[in-house]
Amino acid sequence: MTQARYPKFLTAIPQDLVCASDYALYAKQHLPDDIYQYIVGGGGDEITLRRNRSKLDDLLILPRVLQDCTQGGTHTTVLGQHFRSPIMLAPVAFQTLAHPDGELATAEAASLLETGLVVSTLASQTWQDIADKTQSNKWFQLYLQESRDFTSSLIKRAEQAGYTALVVTIDAPLHGIRNRAQRAGFVLPDDVVAVNLADRPPLPRKVFDPSESVVFQGMMSEAPTWQDIEWLQQQTELPIILKGILSPQDALHAKQLGIDGLVVSNHGGRTLDCMPSAIEQLPHIRHAVGDNFPLIMDGGIERGTDVFKAIAQGADLVWVGRPQIYALAVAGALGVAHLLRVLREELEVTMSLAGTPTIADITDEMLIK
Ligand SMILES: Cc1cc2nc3c(=O)[nH]c(=O)nc-3n(C[C@H](O)[C@H](O)[C@H](O)COP(=O)(O)O)c2cc1C
Repeated sequence: MTQARYPKFLTAIPQDLVCASDYALYAKQHLPDDIYQYIVGGGGDEITLRRNRSKLDDLLILPRVLQDCTQGGTHTTVLGQHFRSPIMLAPVAFQTLAHPDGELATAEAASLLETGLVVSTLASQTWQDIADKTQSNKWFQLYLQESRDFTSSLIKRAEQAGYTALVVTIDAPLHGIRNRAQRAGFVLPDDVVAVNLADRPPLPRKVFDPSESVVFQGMMSEAPTWQDIEWLQQQTELPIILKGILSPQDALHAKQLGIDGLVVSNHGGRTLDCMPSAIEQLPHIRHAVGDNFPLIMDGGIERGTDVFKAIAQGADLVWVGRPQIYALAVAGALGVAHLLRVLREELEVTMSLAGTPTIADITDEMLIK
């Protein structure tokens, strides 16, 4: 472990660190520049990344006054699983980039704050160790592997470790064009590895014909298709959620295949640039799949008001990506726990001031678009 990479972590939360965007400012001071740029950045010109925020900002909340909120709460149930609040931690790879405790610290914070978390295929600590750190709902994020046998073995390991849903990320068959990370010269340090994939079978070396494309005939030749999703459905009893849906047609197709839920997401603006924001696609997807079909949304969530807006637009759960890593980089498990507490309290205050005591009360009519 390269200790020199990490500055001094905070062991108490300073007075001026009060919300998620404050963690972003602190994280810039706490991380080496190349790692910070890799985390903060998006694809291409970052049009989608900016849009994730700007479209959330464009939505306004229309409160109802004089409502009795004394029986209120943020509890919700999705896929038969109970959640203390609809806020969950998104899968983020390689968390020891931000803190030597990495995913273990995040899971500990999630447990303390009774918050669900999703653990990446590319975690830098073992799925079992991470699972053992939390009593909260834990879901496993799967990147389909080139070898089906190997993919099956990953699912079995996740099942054995106690994960209760499979989140299959389908929007990143290859990396987006991450110019910001390139300019900063980011490369994954040698000591940060996808430890759970250590036994991945080596890929056959492909020799390209000059007429072939390294992208189409190379990287995309092993990319998953809908047939792989149908195969996957035969491999597990766990609910399957597809992450990275923006098109209502894809959403409907997934529902018709028997998929259990969807994450409306553009991968935090890190893959294809110029996609719409998740928040603006959410109502279209809700309309396509109808009520009572689990929808999760992520991308740009930084405030309790953002969570409220996403629920009003049709989400059942809302995931937080970058802010958890900023908090981890600044103060480890303490930072993530503080961030989660702040977000939940902000949601409670928003719900109270908007006159919506329960999650079910938060409807489309509460928003001005
Ligand atoms: C540094 C970083 C690593 C990520 N790693 C993964 C991953 O391993 N698997 C995945 O499905 N999504 C991954 N994501 C995307 C997040 O799960 C999530 O969709 C996105 O961060 C949400 O946007 P937000 O950061 O604005 O909250 C990653 C995002 C970041 C910033």
